[in-house]
Amino acid sequence: AANVRRGAEGAVTVAGLDVREVAREFGTPAYVLDEADFRARCRAWREAFGPGADVFYAGKAFLSRAVVRWLREEGLNLDVCSPGELATALSAGMPPERIAMHGNNKSVPEIERGVAAGVGRIVLDSFEEIGRVAAAAARHGVRQRVLVRVTVGVEAHTHEFIATAHEDQKFGLALSDGTAAEAVRRVLAEGAHLELAGLHSHIGSQIFDMAGFEVSARRVVGLLSAIRDEHGVELPEIDLGGGLGIAYTPEDDPREPHEIAKALAEIVAKECEAAGLAVPRLAVEPGRAIAGPSAFTLYEVGTVKPLAGLRTYVSVDGGMSDNIRTALYDAEYSVALVSRASRAAPMLVRVVGRHCESGDIVVRDAYLPADLAPGDLVAVPATGAYCRSMASNYNHTPRPPVIAVAAGAAREIVRRESEEDLLRLDVG
Ligand code: LLP
Repeated sequence: AANVRRGAEGAVTVAGLDVREVAREFGTPAYVLDEADFRARCRAWREAFGPGADVFYAGKAFLSRAVVRWLREEGLNLDVCSPGELATALSAGMPPERIAMHGNNKSVPEIERGVAAGVGRIVLDSFEEIGRVAAAAARHGVRQRVLVRVTVGVEAHTHEFIATAHEDQKFGLALSDGTAAEAVRRVLAEGAHLELAGLHSHIGSQIFDMAGFEVSARRVVGLLSAIRDEHGVELPEIDLGGGLGIAYTPEDDPREPHEIAKALAEIVAKECEAAGLAVPRLAVEPGRAIAGPSAFTLYEVGTVKPLAGLRTYVSVDGGMSDNIRTALYDAEYSVALVSRASRAAPMLVRVVGRHCESGDIVVRDAYLPADLAPGDLVAVPATGAYCRSMASNYNHTPRPPVIAVAAGAAREIVRRESEEDLLRLDVG
């Protein structure tokens, strides 16, 4: 996060607050989120894209009622991909017209709820869904705005599990074999109940190279132009999804929102000009790029176990239940001692959790001071996205709280789970 400093006695402060105080008051492990930093990123995206475009924050990265309020205040829209995210958005007062619904298998009740609430966009992901959304709109006597999600056939350079626009995967309707064009035909045929606002493409996540987005934009505009030729309509919107990478380690070199906005606007304008199309309204859906850098996970060291000739295993009081990304994607993280300064020599460590398997790794390779000891606090940066939202109760572990720090004060925006919470669903 932006507002992290070394303070008195070498302890780290975030937004003016000593992490030792945060640990004392709220316990560890905890996700510590710098609210000003989160909001500044929202504004940076908003300002980069300007009033002629829409920024939908992808709620899957991390969502809570407080986050919904921040988004609302900072002028962002919200992309939800489940009934739970939709309920959170509506309960925290996000205006429904600023909500877009995603997902490759939205249930009929879920669609019904979105249509009834008056969500601004539903992104269609299958032929079945065209009929389902049209039927729900008919029942409610409305004309639902929709986008068609197009699979553009781009190989994004990222982990296989989070790439989404190559052909052989479950999302979207393929451009290459005419499926997307057929979906557009069927949506237009349901014109009484569906208003086709435009096309959507999301190529993957944690991407640094703009080339994939450019190919995606070019192909989406290509389909817009084919639709104009076939149906005589120019669709007014294109949504190029999320996926912009962030720095997890110093080697990562992310693009800034204004660079992204400029590159996307230029390519879309150029392609539209070549096709003789009016430039459509652009939308993007950043999740990680907004939430990721704004939080770190604070852990307490429990054991320090040197393995002769190998490395030292440092066990912390969380692990794969609060950060599955290292085990699932081979994700890389860094770690720092934050409760004090140390002049000791660096030692090679592997930071591991408290769970019952050896894949329970938080940081695979890192250096920490050789005088590291039980009771020290360490922080793993850039855990604001896809950590709390993918957290589990493995080994009956209560999920950690999210502590928002702003102007020297800390408060829970998601409280820590208790053992009572864990037992609540057991019957008998
Ligand atoms: N829009 C759509 C349609 C998406 O599917 C996603 C992410 C986003 C936007 C936001 O992407 P972002 O800007 O956050 O990269 N759990 C994985 C990431 C999965 C992303 C899924 N979809 C991880 O921890 O890396």
